[in-house]
Amino acid sequence: MSFKSRVEDILRHCPPLFRFTSRLYHRLHGSFRTLSPGAPGAIRKGFELVRARDGAVHGDYYEFGLFRGYTFLQAWNHCRELGLDEVNFHGFDSFEGLPPAEGIDQADGRFFEGQFACSREEVERNLAGNGVDLDKINLVQGYYEDSLTETLRTQHAFKPAAVVLLDCDYYSSTVTALKWLEPYIQPGTVLLFDDWFSYGDSDELGQQKAFQEYLERHPQYRAEDLWEFENHGKGFVLHAAS
Ligand SMILES: C[S@@+](CC[C@H](N)C(=O)[O-])C[C@H]1O[C@@H](n2cnc3c(N)ncnc32)[C@H](O)[C@@H]1O
Repeated sequence: MSFKSRVEDILRHCPPLFRFTSRLYHRLHGSFRTLSPGAPGAIRKGFELVRARDGAVHGDYYEFGLFRGYTFLQAWNHCRELGLDEVNFHGFDSFEGLPPAEGIDQADGRFFEGQFACSREEVERNLAGNGVDLDKINLVQGYYEDSLTETLRTQHAFKPAAVVLLDCDYYSSTVTALKWLEPYIQPGTVLLFDDWFSYGDSDELGQQKAFQEYLERHPQYRAEDLWEFENHGKGFVLHAAS
């Protein structure tokens, strides 16, 4: 466990102090970077896997949880480097940080309302300033519970999902994202859960619970384990259940 994780574990015993120090930490470390060092590499491996299997990538990239936009930028860069010019990029975020923690998402207090807030303007500045053509990406603003609607499906050309990064921390956000994604998920979709091990290796909390419930609702799929990635991520590829 890293020094930072050990300090966080101690601070979480006093939620107000934890929230204060977390906000201060992100203010002082305002640089444009990811919170998950392994996520950019996992995104690249996901696209490489789809391309090696199909000879091309016909689907889109979906990211739930952008914070400052770093992983989204890396997805864009990887596709440019790999020559995957047909991929469309969809990013979903409140741009106000996490909604209030409710139910099991209150767990040990590691996630809280407003955490990871970054305005849409700042995210767009970060992306455009690093070479992303804003006319070629689709950012959907709002809390998922409000923004992931049937109407949204008619407002953009959403293709099947090639690679999905679920970096939205909460069980509830992951459930909402996976439900909305249902028509776009298919055998071969790579699903990257950035918060898979946030609560250790327990399927009673967080993203592990959300994905287990998803698979129970969709017996037509089975999930093949791909790789784990830093800090607490894990990737899967879906197959048709035989
Ligand atoms: C850990 S950050 C994402 C980090 C980013 N992928 C990176 O590494 O560069 C989590 C993000 O999820 C977003 N988020 C989580 N739940 C959400 C919800 N229900 N609606 C909208 N945004 C949500 C937060 O606003 C926050 O920006």
